[in-house]
Amino acid sequence: MIEVENLYFDYTDFKGEKIELLKDISFKIESKERVVLLGVNGSGKSTLLKILNALVFPKRGSYIYKGMRIRKRGFKKISRSFRKDISFLMQDPNMLLFNATVREEIEFGLREFGFDDIEKRVEETAKRFGLEKYLETPPFYLSGGEKQRVALASLVAIEPEVLLMDEPSANLDPPTTEWLMDLLRELDITTVISTHNLALAQKFGDRALVLSDNHTLLFDGLLKEFLKNEELMGEAKLLHRYG
Ligand SMILES: Nc1ncnc2c1ncn2[C@@H]1O[C@H](COP(=O)(O)OP(=O)(O)OP(=O)(O)O)[C@@H](O)[C@H]1O
Ligand SMILES: [Mg+2]
Repeated sequence: MIEVENLYFDYTDFKGEKIELLKDISFKIESKERVVLLGVNGSGKSTLLKILNALVFPKRGSYIYKGMRIRKRGFKKISRSFRKDISFLMQDPNMLLFNATVREEIEFGLREFGFDDIEKRVEETAKRFGLEKYLETPPFYLSGGEKQRVALASLVAIEPEVLLMDEPSANLDPPTTEWLMDLLRELDITTVISTHNLALAQKFGDRALVLSDNHTLLFDGLLKEFLKNEELMGEAKLLHRYG
């Protein structure tokens, strides 16, 4: 479903120097796989997710989604079906909330993609996400965890095939994190989730992609194998000295 091959991404910093952020990254993700993306701060996780969501494009190498090469040139032609298929819960939910009320927030995507019975879908989604009492509230007033839930509700309402999530548990308390995991299990769609929470990672998915701090792909395989391998964990700088 998702094929990334020899992908490179760089940017030019304020001194005019080229900084490589993703180097020679290759992996494949099959439909309905649940993949956990690990790596230290700045290793490139969010950037990789942005590439998978076609918010930025690779500098070299390829990203192929359902057999289509995703690149800047010609993206407009497929952007509508691509955006219906792939949803991205960004690291900061504020980036995703721009409507006057929670109701309008959930309605937005449903309208955009021409769903029928929008009212009914909004009610159902609100119920599923425990947002009924906030439907007329401006998202602006909500707590971080509640905003996260609204952002996720708006994305899931349009029934995407792929859900990309950047640190989804960062704002969530333990019961809401548990609820998120149940939801992901129930959704049963392709998911790629970046997280720093190794204790929870295994509940999010079985497979891990691990970026090293030199921006290459250090590991692609079973998450439980990675967590057992102290040498690799050390190389990824994901071991705690105070444990
Ligand atoms: N266009 C750009 N201009 C300047 N700096 C950039 C640009 N794009 C990315 N960066 C830098 O690249 C680095 C990698 O960013 P990214 O957000 O992908 O890392 P991350 O693995 O998600 O980190 P975190 O765990 O902190 O969320 C960061 O240091 C960021 O500041
Ligand atoms: Mg990030």
